[in-house]
Order: sequence, then C-alpha cells, then structure tokens
Amino acid sequence: YVIGIDLGTSAVKALLVDRTGEVVGEATRAYPLIQEKSGYSEQNPEDWVRATIVALSELTENFGGSREEIEGLSFSGQMHGLVLLDGEMRVLRNAILWNDTRTTAQCTEIEERVGRERLLGITKNIAMEGFTLPKLLWVKDHEPAVFEQARMFLLPKDYVRYRLTGSAEMDLSDAAGTLLLDVRKNEWSGEMCRLLGLDESLCPPLVESQDETGRLLPEMTAITGLSPNTRVFAGGADNACGAIGAGILEEGKTLCSIGTSGVILSYEEDARKDFGGKVHYFNHGAPGSYYTMGVTLSAGHSLSWLRDTFAEGVYFEELLRDVGSVPAGSDGLLYTPYLSGERTPHVDASIRGSFIGIDASHRLRHFTRAVLEGITFSLNESIRLFRENGKTVDTVVSVGGGARNAPWLQMQADVFDATVVRLKSEQGPGMGAAMLAAAGCGWFDSLKECADVFLKPDMVYRPDPETVGIYEELFDIYRDVYPATAPISR
Ligand code: XUL
Repeated sequence: YVIGIDLGTSAVKALLVDRTGEVVGEATRAYPLIQEKSGYSEQNPEDWVRATIVALSELTENFGGSREEIEGLSFSGQMHGLVLLDGEMRVLRNAILWNDTRTTAQCTEIEERVGRERLLGITKNIAMEGFTLPKLLWVKDHEPAVFEQARMFLLPKDYVRYRLTGSAEMDLSDAAGTLLLDVRKNEWSGEMCRLLGLDESLCPPLVESQDETGRLLPEMTAITGLSPNTRVFAGGADNACGAIGAGILEEGKTLCSIGTSGVILSYEEDARKDFGGKVHYFNHGAPGSYYTMGVTLSAGHSLSWLRDTFAEGVYFEELLRDVGSVPAGSDGLLYTPYLSGERTPHVDASIRGSFIGIDASHRLRHFTRAVLEGITFSLNESIRLFRENGKTVDTVVSVGGGARNAPWLQMQADVFDATVVRLKSEQGPGMGAAMLAAAGCGWFDSLKECADVFLKPDMVYRPDPETVGIYEELFDIYRDVYPATAPISR
C-alpha cells in the first residue's frame, strides 16, 4: 500500500491505495482560513501539521493490515503559500496563501526590476499576486523585523513533510510556482534573487517529486501508527499531482478540471515553447517534463451563482436536467463568465460578465445552457492558445464538477473538438501523490506505467462534426464579446 496526502486549502485528505490503484481507506481533516483584512488569506502551518497527523492516525487505525505493508507516502500541496522559517526552523508568521491578493505593488516591482522579457526567460511566468516571490517581498517591505529573522522559506506541503521527517527540501513542480526558479535549468535563479535583493540561501534544496526525502521521525511514527520503514517521497504541486492522477503524462493529453475555478492543463515535453506568459508554465511531477495551464476564474462559480440567484435551493441535477433539450447555442443566448474578472487569456481583474441576446422566449434552461457554454468557451480559450502554439490537443480528461453531467461532457467534446474522457474512480491530486509514492517505491518503472494500471476510463465522448461547426462560429462571436464589453462592464 501507499498513501497520498493532499494538503488542500480547506482540508487535508489522505488516501490509502493498493497495488491496483484501488482506494482502500480515506481520512479528511479540515482547518480554518484566516482572513484578517479584505484580500488577505492565511493559515497557521501548525494546523496543517496537526490535521495531517490526525488524518494519518485515522487511516492507520482503520487499516486492517500490518503497518509494515504501507510502503511509502507522498504529498500533493496547495501551491505558492509562503512558510517563513528562522534559523531554528521555527515558523515566523502565518503562511500567506495562493489566494491572498495583497501583493499587487510587489508584482509591479518585480516586473520593473527584472523586466517582462527576462522574467519570462527565467521563470516562464509573469508576476501574479498568488506566487510566492511577491509574498516574500511583501514581508520584507511590511514586516522587516520578521524578515530579518528569516533563514529559509518552504511551501505548505514541504513544511508538513519537514515536520514529519525533519528534512527540508522543495520539489521542482512546487518551486516553479515561486517565481524564483530557473524553470529550464531546474535550479534557483541567482539572478532573480540578486535583482530583488534576496539572499539565495533562503531557498531550500531542490529535489524531484519522486525523490525519497527521508523517513518519519520516531515521534511521528508513534502518533501516526506508521512504520519507521515507510518511505517518504517529496511530492508535488496540486496541479501537477492532479494531472498525474488524471494520467496527463504524455504529449497530446490535456486535463479539464472544473471546480469553483476551471483549469485547462496540458502536458509539455520540455520548457521550449513560448506562450508569452499567457498561460502558466510549470515543471511537472514526472522527471524532466512540464505542463502549461490556463485558468477560468469563475467556472463552477458561474453555475452556483446562477442557481443561487435564479433557482435558490434547487439541486444542480435538477437545474441541469433540461440543458440537453436546449439546442447548441442556447437559441441565441451567450454568456461570458467574468463574474470576478478573468485570468486566461485576458489577465484582467476588472472585466465583468454578460448575457448577450436575451429573447422573451428564453427560460431558465436557456440561461443554464448558456452558462455551461460560456464556461466551456472560456476554457476553450486556453485550448486555442495551446493549439496556436503548435500543440496537439486530441484527448481531454475531464474531472471535477464538469465531469458529472453527460450533456456538459458532450459539450466539452464539441467545443474543444477533442475526445473527452471521464475516469472511473476520480480521486484528484491525492491519487497523483499516491502514484508518486508507488513509482518511488519501484512498483512501476514510470508514472505513465502506473497510470496505465491505476486509472481506468469510464465514459468517452467524441466530437460531433455538425455541433463542432456550430460551436466554432459561436466561439468567434464569444471572443468578440470581451473587447466589446471591456470598456463598459467594469
Ligand atoms: C495555481 C493556484 C491554485 C492552487 C490551489 O497557480 O494558485 O491552483 O494551487 O491550491
């Protein structure tokens, strides 16, 4: 058996997985978000450690076998969160999380000091509030006494792993989200540190996601019930692990993950493509590979907003029941999902959404279908960017809320003009973490081999040529809405 630990933003979830990829045990523990001011989002790293220990003990308590049978464990973690440590490895302040937006001034400073071209050359990404580097600079600017004591920074799951093993390192897939990694060379960028006045010694040692990073400390085996022989592997960023857990491990494979926000993530063999910062470009959890990723900020959120506003108390199944009876194009109703701005491709926090073409004959089912289409068009913007840069997108694995409704899955196939696959047992990033442990333990020669055994397709949706044609025309109209509404919908 192996364990995959998914350290999320609201809870930690631990999965116990057998050699066939079957989940045989599961434990979850929640922790609070600390939001002292608007735009602030923090967590106490001690809460993660406590919750992880409790989840692991619950998993081992409910496990019928001997603890020696649990061969390895690994991690998936919420990305970008800054954990600042002093020389004794004590936490200096609450962690500042990925969804904290206080760092706009620091992002401007990074772009000015480094220059957009050079920044993209080194990090493959542009400066965004969520990334770790702007958070480091914020603490330096606003809490100099704290910053002075800092000797190392870690990301959330790396800190939890440090507490379990006593050994501190960061894996490349998570390090890529700091904006301090030379993404092509797989090393910390001395140049970035120099240009921003940071001491490179703050950066922890780098490892690959599959690398073994020590064993559990005796006090940790005592409270978790795990064996001192259980091997601990570094793990990866939640998006990398989500991709691994969906089998996005070869050229041509793309992930569509719809939660509150939506993600289109595509496998990259190398870091040579240039998207000009329009999509994120990060190291993957599989050695030597990368992934690119576009984000729709209000994906599932658009649908819950529609429900809460126009169909309060109605279950999603009921809301979506009639969308299959409305024709592609929602009888002329078009929606743009910019409820709280848009990330890809516009990087525009102030744009707002719209319904265009409202007709007296439109009913709630038309609005519902139009919302699904608008979300899917927005996700298709990322796919369009990938294809324009020479990528093949032929298979899309759909996970999350978007994979629960058959007409929506068919819509994804028709809008993306790609085969859409739904998995049999979808476990998200925790499965990716378990797969890193399984491959690390030597059960498989590669993550790809592990995916072939662990992940089974459930349903396959193929694009219907006629509907593809309808959506191609509508997508052009959808793309005209942004420039037309940008000056008037802020
Ligand atoms: C990625 C990002 C989020 C977090 C969520 O850039 O900010 O997906 O990883 O945990």
